[in-house]
Amino acid sequence: MAAAVHSANTKAVAVAETPAYDEAVRTLRRAGCVFAEREAAAIFASSHAAARRRQMVAARAAGAPLEYVVGVAEFAGVRVGIGPPAFIPRHRAAALVDAADMVQTRADAVTVLDLGCGCGAIAAALAQRHPSWSVHATDVDAAAVAYARTNGVAFGFETHEGDWFDALPTSLQGALDVAVAHLPYVPSAEVAMMPRDFRDAEPLRTVDGGTDGLDPWRTVAARAATWLAPGGALLTQVAGIQVETAVTVGADAGWHTMPATTDLSDQDGAVVLVSRRA
Ligand SMILES: C[S@@+](CC[C@H](N)C(=O)[O-])C[C@H]1O[C@@H](n2cnc3c(N)ncnc32)[C@H](O)[C@@H]1O
Repeated sequence: MAAAVHSANTKAVAVAETPAYDEAVRTLRRAGCVFAEREAAAIFASSHAAARRRQMVAARAAGAPLEYVVGVAEFAGVRVGIGPPAFIPRHRAAALVDAADMVQTRADAVTVLDLGCGCGAIAAALAQRHPSWSVHATDVDAAAVAYARTNGVAFGFETHEGDWFDALPTSLQGALDVAVAHLPYVPSAEVAMMPRDFRDAEPLRTVDGGTDGLDPWRTVAARAATWLAPGGALLTQVAGIQVETAVTVGADAGWHTMPATTDLSDQDGAVVLVSRRA
């Protein structure tokens, strides 16, 4: 089993080395969990009921992502509620949150969109960092939107359901200072190579970007102009190998698209692209 805990921040709770905890660690380790101690600690922290804990350990050992099991994902300094089938936030996407900080040109009254928000982790991180910003989030998946709505109440952002920008009220046309689009960008043929926990749990629509992984980017780049304010920035993330084609896709749709600073590239080679009107 691949490690579903991609959070270095999960706090190891002070769990006495009880027989139940030791047994949970053994069960998780037998199931192939690389971070068995940390995962057992997260499970024990999320419930005090012995039966519920056993149920969660069994679900995790059977391959359910830890985030679904405990109902929480940690991302860019926030803890958001999550469950199946919402996309599990990836830490590399935190670079998009940092990029949104860098590209916005106004001091306050910034209007930001988390496009394809899943459970709304990016929106939550932006809302927490910038309480004065007006943060919106959209997704086409009703179940993901339900999680995002709950997270939106906690963190202060508004969630809309629908196909990309069509979900937004027309009052936001020409009003977005920053649109953050963490799109599906895995080429169809490579989805099978994703870690099993994610591949088995997340709907194809959350990760599969078509033949070269860039079909959602083509769609979004073609539709975004109407929604951005003058000087506004459209942000997305792609794999290093996709950068050249993604820049061309942006140019074909009338954008000046370029990689953000190298600080926003991660060890997996994911690159943040910033697009402004050419
Ligand atoms: C890579 S996930 C990113 C989720 C979230 N932004 C995050 O980083 O955790 C892509 C998201 O796009 C959503 N999506 C796919 N097709 C969509 C569409 N046509 N309109 C709106 N959202 C869509 C998926 O449901 C999924 O939540």
